[in-house]
Amino acid sequence: MTSPCLKGHVALVTGGAGGIGSAICERFAAEGARVVVADLVLDQAVARAEHLTAKGHEACALALDVASRASWESAVAALPPKFAGVDVVANVAGIVRDRSLPKMTDEEWTQVIDISLRGTWLGCQVAFSLVGKRGWGRIINTASTAMFGAFGQSNYAAAKAGIVGLTRTVALEGARRQRHYPGHRRNHDPQGRAAGAARQLDSKDAAGPDRATFRDCVRRGLSRLR
Ligand SMILES: NC(=O)c1ccc[n+]([C@@H]2O[C@H](COP(=O)([O-])OP(=O)(O)OC[C@H]3O[C@@H](n4cnc5c(N)ncnc54)[C@H](O)[C@@H]3O)[C@@H](O)[C@H]2O)c1
Repeated sequence: MTSPCLKGHVALVTGGAGGIGSAICERFAAEGARVVVADLVLDQAVARAEHLTAKGHEACALALDVASRASWESAVAALPPKFAGVDVVANVAGIVRDRSLPKMTDEEWTQVIDISLRGTWLGCQVAFSLVGKRGWGRIINTASTAMFGAFGQSNYAAAKAGIVGLTRTVALEGARRQRHYPGHRRNHDPQGRAAGAARQLDSKDAAGPDRATFRDCVRRGLSRLR
């Protein structure tokens, strides 16, 4: 059996009390992470954290509205010391408010864009201030095949397509930013790091419908570093 790949790391999962968020929390915990279950619905987040704790994992619950900068700030400030060194932020929280284009209301559009897209953007901004301080980190965003177009989901499809563009930008800015981690082993080799990412994308492990496009993005980031 391989050793747990997240041992010693802290992972914060937004929407951690929901269907996919819960499964991610469960898997991260099984991989040895200390898990922060962050959700708008605190009692469900608490239940999820207690469930993990009862199974012998380390977990805590956090009230978080991903669409609110103030909520992110107070959530980060409220992290218990044991969970403060966040290494992984998984932006999973998202909602649907389906209705055909002619009937969709401003409110239905705004809610989905605010929570799914802006919430993920805020999560990435916060993650930039937390993740990587201990020499390693990951930011994970959640898209959907709806980004290719889905009937009655103009709001959701737009949000998810936006998340893909956002994530590619985060990857580029994140690779560039590696230069500024004092004491990081790859501090002096940012080009090598980006080249590594490009190599990884070339490998057969890198799946995805438009891998070539993403690979190009990484390469463009690499050329900017030169
Ligand atoms: N279920 C699917 O088939 C599917 C497919 C593709 C992508 N996704 C995406 O996966 C993610 C999770 O989906 P799910 O099916 O588990 O949904 P879910 O409704 O089961 O869970 C969403 C969780 O997000 C929380 N949440 C809602 N608004 C929030 C806010 N403002 N701040 C913090 N938390 C908030 C909810 O309380 C809930 O716990 C979403 O981003 C969704 O778009 C889902």
